Amino acid sequence: MSVTVLTHPLIQHKLTILRDIDTGVKVFREVVSEIAMLMCYEAMRELPLEEIKVMTPVAEATVKALAGKKLALVPILRAGLGMVDGILSLVPSAKVAHIGLYRDPETLEPVEYYCKMPPDIMSRDCFILDPMLATGGTAAAAAKFLKDAGAQSIKLLSILSAPPGVEKMEKMHPDVEVITCAIDGHLNDHGYIVPGLGDAGDRIFGTK
Ligand code: URA
Repeated sequence: MSVTVLTHPLIQHKLTILRDIDTGVKVFREVVSEIAMLMCYEAMRELPLEEIKVMTPVAEATVKALAGKKLALVPILRAGLGMVDGILSLVPSAKVAHIGLYRDPETLEPVEYYCKMPPDIMSRDCFILDPMLATGGTAAAAAKFLKDAGAQSIKLLSILSAPPGVEKMEKMHPDVEVITCAIDGHLNDHGYIVPGLGDAGDRIFGTK
């Protein structure tokens, strides 16, 4: 499996804003969206191009355009929703599938409560969106859902990761590229990433 850690200074600066306990809900939500946009830029690096002709004001030119590859954003409810708008601002034609999975607070295992995908998911490049890759249980379950639905091309975009999550994805889905902005030290007893940024869903939606 490949893990790409985005070390770009702009991303690292924005990640620091997310980590800060004093960052309020408005800024937190905006910065999640901005980071998602920058992550999408990286995730789309290898999309195939084709040559097309356009007429500029000066002359006809043979130039590059995306070769019609279709994208599906797959936010894991609910924190993944915070990453959708930033990516849609770059790729407005992407379809959005939803997977509702929550972590059982006792077992930390993922439990599905909602799933809705476009019918042609199998022919789309799928970006699973979940700001936090902690135990990896939720991300691995989402990747399995997509594969069961026929998806062939899957990437996971997680703003912040921890080693157990990265290892789980490596073991269960070696074909899924993980794109993240940092891999922190460890998980605490409640499954939170340390030092992390707290509960991403609560901080995006202001529910704490
Ligand atoms: N989910 C979160 O929102 N934060 C963590 O630290 C781990 C999982």
